This record gives sequence, structure tokens and C-alpha cells, in this order.
Amino acid sequence: MMRRRPLVVANWKMNKLPSESAAYIDKIEKPVDQFPDVIPVLAGQDVLLPGMLHAARGTNISIGAENMYWKDQGAFTGETSPAALADLGIRYVILGHSERRNYFHETNEMVNRKAHAALQHNLIPIVAIDEAIIPRNENDRSHWVVNQVIETFEGMSAQTAKTMILAYEPTDSIGSGQAMTPEIAQFALRRIRLTLADMYNWDVAQAVRIMYGGSVKPDNAYELMIQDDIDGVLVGNAALDPDQFIALCQIA
Ligand code: G3P
Repeated sequence: MMRRRPLVVANWKMNKLPSESAAYIDKIEKPVDQFPDVIPVLAGQDVLLPGMLHAARGTNISIGAENMYWKDQGAFTGETSPAALADLGIRYVILGHSERRNYFHETNEMVNRKAHAALQHNLIPIVAIDEAIIPRNENDRSHWVVNQVIETFEGMSAQTAKTMILAYEPTDSIGSGQAMTPEIAQFALRRIRLTLADMYNWDVAQAVRIMYGGSVKPDNAYELMIQDDIDGVLVGNAALDPDQFIALCQIA
């Protein structure tokens, strides 16, 4: 099977200032060009996005948002529309991050609506999945069904589903400094891919890129990235440092 093109996605979360993003992008621009097979993406707070896009213009670095609403306009104070992100030139949007599910009570249904709205505006959703993948009962393949995946893809055609990107981020790995072991991460991502195959077919299951996130650092990324079903990494703390972001692109 052809290797899916890997991504290294920085999720800056609520970090960095508008005055810092240009220097970060200037520092990584040339080094990441040495790794043309890797897709480098930086996701920042909405207020940073125009400056990030300006600094990334003419480079191979894509800029992403960390969230969005599912309506294009209206009385939704404080929210950002997919239309505005697309108009700005944003390529990717992280949806359903566990911090948004936990702190802001986002549901699978909300994430599904957002994913549909993003796709309608040619934004590429990176949907975070944080469900514990544990057997529901023995000797039955359906017991690996991952409910968040099923509800995320609700109403999506096979063709559309192929453009989606997932990121499996077990909550106890996020920010803990302790990534999931490569073997368990591979096991979990394989169950996600099996769920997609059950929902659609193997063609779709093989096309969807699935990343791992949760305490990824240059010293643990290689063992993760060589796993068959891991197509990239979604990185928080380590990606605040441009040198570590470059190192992760080199490893991917
Ligand atoms: O979205 C990626 C993030 O949740 C992982 O954070 O700091 O564990 O790499 P961190």
C-alpha cells in the first residue's frame, strides 16, 4: 500500500502572539522545504491567522484554524464562520479537539455539522477523536466500532469522507509528557480505520489520513511515524518551538 503523505500539524492552542508568528514561520520556512513529502501545517488562534497567512505566503506551510462555527453568518457573537476562514485563505481547521469537547461541551453532532460546513467551503477538517477504544465484547469485530468516528462522518458520502483527516488524541496523553506507546497507538488507529471500512469500504478507509496526537516530541515521533496506520502527528507543546517543529518534519 502506498504510504499516505504525512502531516505535521502544530496546534498552538491559545499560545503565541501576533507579533511572534512571522519570526516562527521565517525560521521554519527553508528547513521544512527539505522534506517535500511532509505537509507542514500551523494552526493558531483566529486573531493570529491573518498574520500567519501573510508570513506563510509563497511557502509550503499551510495555515489552519483551531475551531469554527457551522453557520456562514448571523447573530453568533464571538464565533468564526467557515466562509470567513475560507475567504481569508485558511486551508485546514481542527474540529472537536478534546479541550473543546471538555471545556466547551462540544458534542459529536456539533462536530459533524462543523465538518460538513468546512467541506462545503473547501476547508480540510482535522477532526480530533479522543474516545477510549476498548472492546465492548469479545470475538466480535464490531466491538471496535468507534462511536465518535461514526457520528463525525454521519451524512457524508464516500467521496467526501476521503478528504477528511482524523487525529486520535487520547486525553490522558495530551499535555502529560507521556505519549501513547507506538504499539497501542497503532492498535487504536487500526480500529478507527476498521470502523471506516465498516461504514464505507476499504478504498475510503485507506484514503482517510489518521494522525496521532498527545505528547508527541522529536524523541518519540519516529517510533510513532513508522506505524502503518499513523499518517502524521498533531502536536501541542513541542510545536511551540520552531526547532522541534523542524525536527518533527524531518522525522515524519
Ligand atoms: O492537538 C494536539 C494537542 O492536543 C497535543 O498536545 O502538548 O500533548 O502535544 P501536546
